[in-house]
Amino acid sequence: MQILFHAPDANPAPWLAELQAALPQAQLRVWQEGDTAPADFAVVWKPPAAMLQGRTDLKGIFNLGAGVDAILQLGDALPAGVPIVRLDDAGMGVQMAEYVSHAVLRYFRKFDQLDAQQRAGKWRFVKAHEKENFSVGILGLGVLGSRIAAALAPFGFPLHGWSRTQKTADGMTCHAGADALPGFLAASRVVVCVLPLTADTAGILNRANLSVMPAGGYLINVARGAHLVEEDLLALVQAGHIAGATLDVFRQEPLPPDHPFWQEPRITITPHIAAVTLRADSVRQIAAKINRLQQGQDVPGVVERARGY
Ligand code: NAP
Ligand code: GLV
Repeated sequence: MQILFHAPDANPAPWLAELQAALPQAQLRVWQEGDTAPADFAVVWKPPAAMLQGRTDLKGIFNLGAGVDAILQLGDALPAGVPIVRLDDAGMGVQMAEYVSHAVLRYFRKFDQLDAQQRAGKWRFVKAHEKENFSVGILGLGVLGSRIAAALAPFGFPLHGWSRTQKTADGMTCHAGADALPGFLAASRVVVCVLPLTADTAGILNRANLSVMPAGGYLINVARGAHLVEEDLLALVQAGHIAGATLDVFRQEPLPPDHPFWQEPRITITPHIAAVTLRADSVRQIAAKINRLQQGQDVPGVVERARGY
């Protein structure tokens, strides 16, 4: 079994060593420009078109992340009929739960204000928001969104969720489809975006939609930078409609040094670390799925190309 590997941001040596240990029968190689030799599987992050074009011999392409926007934008360069398999949690769910719980609790208990007070040397009592008015709405109730909802549930915030198809979940009001978006936004004092980036969701965090949120709302974007119209958020923060935003993803990454977000204290910036790909968990999951595919069995996490996730 031949496996191609390409992950430009990672050191390939430990990945190849751990994949080899999990799949002793495999022959692994880092893909190089011009390599068109046969392969059975590809394990990739942000692959170039030349790596995958015409490779209809592949039995599976494994994406080293949950989001498949970077690979799907290759369009017709992707070999037709080859399953593209995303990472299913693989240790990202708990990281998302940690990140979003921290951001929600920070705003709810006003730790952002308390930090500013400490920097100014002020001792002043600060009351938390009222919980019944501090509803949290999660855009995207898939693998990661549902894990975030489960982490927030014990705190007792009113919870809302939005997805494409209708869901039911104890303790959460579930909204589905484009027509239900305004009602979801109007009900959500805090909006958490954990949607895949698709033609339908690009730019969803725009002035019109964010204006539907209650005044003094908060935004947490852990999905993709292109979900947010950055200048719209800045204007709404400066107008006071959005009280604060925690952003992990940006249209341009790294965020350029002259970007106005750096100068806006109500916007908290993190460098795309909400949920990172964990090597051991990912290798375990990919190896198990390769073994299943080799035996002709189905695997979870196969991307539906037409819907974009
Ligand atoms: P997922 O399991 O595919 O879930 C996607 C959810 O979004 C589903 O509930 C889906 O609805 C919903 N959705 C998709 N299109 C929609 C639309 N047009 N309208 C309403 N709902 C829609 O994805 P996931 O594993 O949770 O990951 C979500 C995203 O998180 C990834 O695509 C990636 O971009 C991002 N991410 C970021 C980081 C980071 O570190 N910042 C790390 C990992 C992932 P249905 O349930 O009805 O299909
Ligand atoms: C990271 O952003 C991922 O999609 O896994």
